[in-house]
Amino acid sequence: MGTFDLARARADTPASERLIHFNNAGASLMPNAVADTVLAHLDLERRIGGYEAEASAQPAINDFYDAFATLLNCDRGEVAYIENATRAWDMAFYALPLRAGDRILTHESEYASNYLALLQLAQRQGVGIDVVPSDSDGQIDIDSLRRAISSESRVIALTHVPTHNGLINPAVAVGQIAREHGLIYVLDACQSAGQLPLDVKQIGCHVLSGTGRKFLRGPRGTGFLYVEQEFLQMLDPPFVDMHAARPLQAAAFELRSDARRFETWESYVAGRIGLRTAVRYLLELGVDAVSARVVALAARLRESLAAETRVAVHDRGVSKSGIVTFTLADEPASSAATRLRAAGANVSVTIADAAPLDVQLRRLQGAVRASVHYYNTDDEIDRFVSLVVGG
Ligand SMILES: Cc1ncc(COP(=O)(O)O)c(C=O)c1O
Repeated sequence: MGTFDLARARADTPASERLIHFNNAGASLMPNAVADTVLAHLDLERRIGGYEAEASAQPAINDFYDAFATLLNCDRGEVAYIENATRAWDMAFYALPLRAGDRILTHESEYASNYLALLQLAQRQGVGIDVVPSDSDGQIDIDSLRRAISSESRVIALTHVPTHNGLINPAVAVGQIAREHGLIYVLDACQSAGQLPLDVKQIGCHVLSGTGRKFLRGPRGTGFLYVEQEFLQMLDPPFVDMHAARPLQAAAFELRSDARRFETWESYVAGRIGLRTAVRYLLELGVDAVSARVVALAARLRESLAAETRVAVHDRGVSKSGIVTFTLADEPASSAATRLRAAGANVSVTIADAAPLDVQLRRLQGAVRASVHYYNTDDEIDRFVSLVVGG
């Protein structure tokens, strides 16, 4: 695994000495630098006042946009701070210029909250939804996607790395098709941001959303939104306030010209600058090095689990992420997760409702989700597998 500075990563993550934290797809452990940023800002607010603390944090607040611009290969004006990935996605999605009869293409792996928004728009506005099936590897079937496109198609909404499965959807190939057909491309990068390189120009998406607390290792209650500069001029945010727009004479108003038209005036400043620290920390480690290590650790975990007779691993996809899902022959996922947590190994349980279109997930009725990050180790994987099968 090359020259990755594991000792530093673990020293910066003190809880990794006590815990096997395989819940990075839920909420990762914040590195010290991130937690210190948040705590120092809260302390400053306590000592000098919230507005005064914000004024003194202005350089870090400004750098939030530059840090994300570097991470995503975009312009700082294309980035907005939003409190979580769901609202980030919603702010762009509910602003899309859609009419009755327009159709939205999505995939079986689409995240539940996004799919609910599609259903709400279908009910409210009469847009149609086309669910593109998976190929034999479980990822969006590119040929089926091509075939599903009609003259009514307007949008492709895709989840890059699903919440409930190790697969990585082919975001770049989908972007190519979106471009060829002039479709709006909305990518949910909630689980990919922080574990995979994300280049919005290469992907070709108009919208990309993500959260702070997962693989980016930021604080809870933070997220971000990317909207392509030219495209965002066509979007009318579902809500506006005096930060997103300004009133004009004659009962009119003018929206901000950048992606911050999707933000609100009030925000969690400590969290926002904490997330900025998390992105700077990641950029310093190097996204490619992080990604290579995450993918390798997850592959090892999958292999070790699959070698156990009581364990079935359920991840699909040609390329796989840091998310590993499995079930035990004789123990429900929820009790396995509780048992593992009690033994010092954090995991989540993925439920069928997390991705309602996924037939395989529905059949499983829940699986344990173990998600690794670069600060995890081979030794933790070995101990974890012993705990899983140790009963
Ligand atoms: C793929 C995916 N999209 C969106 C979300 C929602 O993120 P948030 O909880 O920050 O709104 C999640 C959360 O688990 C997710 O896994």
